[in-house]
Amino acid sequence: MADRLRLGVNIDHVATLRNARGGALPDPVRAAVMAEQAGADGITAHLREDRRHIRDADIGAIMAAIGIPLNFEMAATAEMQTIALAHRPHAACIVPERREERTTEGGLEVAARADWMAEYIAPLRDAGCRVSLFIAADPDQISAAARIGAPVIELHTGAYCDFHAEGDFAARDAELARLIDGAKQAADLGLEVHMGHGLSYDTVAPIAALPEVRELNIGHFLIGEAVFVGLPQAIATMRAAMEAARG
Ligand code: PXP
Repeated sequence: MADRLRLGVNIDHVATLRNARGGALPDPVRAAVMAEQAGADGITAHLREDRRHIRDADIGAIMAAIGIPLNFEMAATAEMQTIALAHRPHAACIVPERREERTTEGGLEVAARADWMAEYIAPLRDAGCRVSLFIAADPDQISAAARIGAPVIELHTGAYCDFHAEGDFAARDAELARLIDGAKQAADLGLEVHMGHGLSYDTVAPIAALPEVRELNIGHFLIGEAVFVGLPQAIATMRAAMEAARG
């Protein structure tokens, strides 16, 4: 179905748990394969500069083990660009890691350094990676993303989810309104719209219902839920919630 909302499962927190003991278990590659078998449309993983999530060797291992696309999350650094170009994942999602790379809302700062960012993403695009920019639902950031030729944006749902968890429903709804407006603006500019960060069974429905949104990337909640019900069940329940919201 052309219009099916894709679910990207972020397996970083399996790696976080592995790294807590410094050994090989639990294996994020096994999580990626299991997520694929459970119906994930893609795997998302972030090679952080401090390597606290996946490690360098995980990238090739995950890509070799899965038959679905890898969405490789990376900071906009020379080191990460070299690594991405060596692996050529299906998608490269540029995320902020340092304070000076992010806007006050937590997304990537694109508008204030649009020329620099355009140059940064060009080799990734030339290598065939679908470049995505993880930005706040801020009209200036969205129009800058379109201006520099990024094909995809991922809008940051973290504040929306945090306000929900805090019970500040007025602020949550204001954030949701910003996300709705942002998705419309982006789609009008020809951008493919993804969303993610902090989503759970409680917060996913209004986001999944937005017709402009093509993909959700969800990790922390699913890996946490997997401790109690197993990863396949957690993914199946999330998928059902997404599809119910889509109608
Ligand atoms: N999308 C992006 C760009 C992210 O950086 C993250 C977190 O690594 C996620 C989605 C998933 O967020 P969460 O783990 O809170 O579901």
